[in-house]
Amino acid sequence: MIELINVSFSYKGKTALEDINIKINEGEAVALIGPNGSGKSTLMKLINGIISPNKGEYLLDKKIITEKQLNNNIFSKAFHKKIGFVFQNSDTQLFCSTVYEEIAFGPRQMGILEEEVKKRVYDCLRLLNIEKLKHEAPYNLSEGEKKRVAIASVLSMNPEILTLDEPMNGIDPKGKKFLKELLLKLNASGKTIICSTHDFDYVEGIFKRAIVFSEKHRIIRDEDYGTVIKDEKFLIENNIK
Ligand SMILES: Nc1ncnc2c1ncn2[C@@H]1O[C@H](COP(=O)(O)OP(=O)(O)O)[C@@H](O)[C@H]1O
Ligand SMILES: [Mg+2]
Repeated sequence: MIELINVSFSYKGKTALEDINIKINEGEAVALIGPNGSGKSTLMKLINGIISPNKGEYLLDKKIITEKQLNNNIFSKAFHKKIGFVFQNSDTQLFCSTVYEEIAFGPRQMGILEEEVKKRVYDCLRLLNIEKLKHEAPYNLSEGEKKRVAIASVLSMNPEILTLDEPMNGIDPKGKKFLKELLLKLNASGKTIICSTHDFDYVEGIFKRAIVFSEKHRIIRDEDYGTVIKDEKFLIENNIK
């Protein structure tokens, strides 16, 4: 469903992705691995239409995604219904006055009727186990709670593809276990999961595939997750562990 063909991206001349080729099928659970600055977050921004390739093509469901299309309101809504992004820093994602409003925001933007919005909000509050927080202001919450709200605010739009940028960062062990179980559950229910991580202890069992980026912003491995993670020598040599 996602395909990148010879994609390169640079920020004002500074390379962040170099000749990337990836194909991700529906229902996959893929980990993006690599040292700091290797391009993981940039790739996620690109897949989520926040930036567009300088070179190469991004296809979603076999259709080329262009900047022009993303600027079109109707196209953009359909696009964001398909793919959801949980940012690394929850503070850049949360901007409403209460948790309830935050989770309701996406579905309301999509034009969903208020009765259905309410149902979705409550489903997501329950799924993330944050019913108690519904009247709280997001900025008063702990990092782990913010992350749950951010995930709920994306899931309320019911995207087919869920992308998460280092979701385990700054979360306590209990929160990490909860998140792991949630990702397993979502993937089992058919959602495609794409997730950057370097917290290998808590993600055991979630991913079938690892895409590994080098310091040179290229893909150096794309294969079975377990095989990559067991290759200590490779991980150390490439500044991943
Ligand atoms: N907004 C930005 N402006 C300029 N350079 C950036 C920006 N974001 C990332 N970069 C650079 O792009 C490269 C890839 O960064 P990033 O995708 O954030 O890597 P990762 O997520 O793997 O740590 C790095 O060299 C980084 O410094
Ligand atoms: Mg990053």
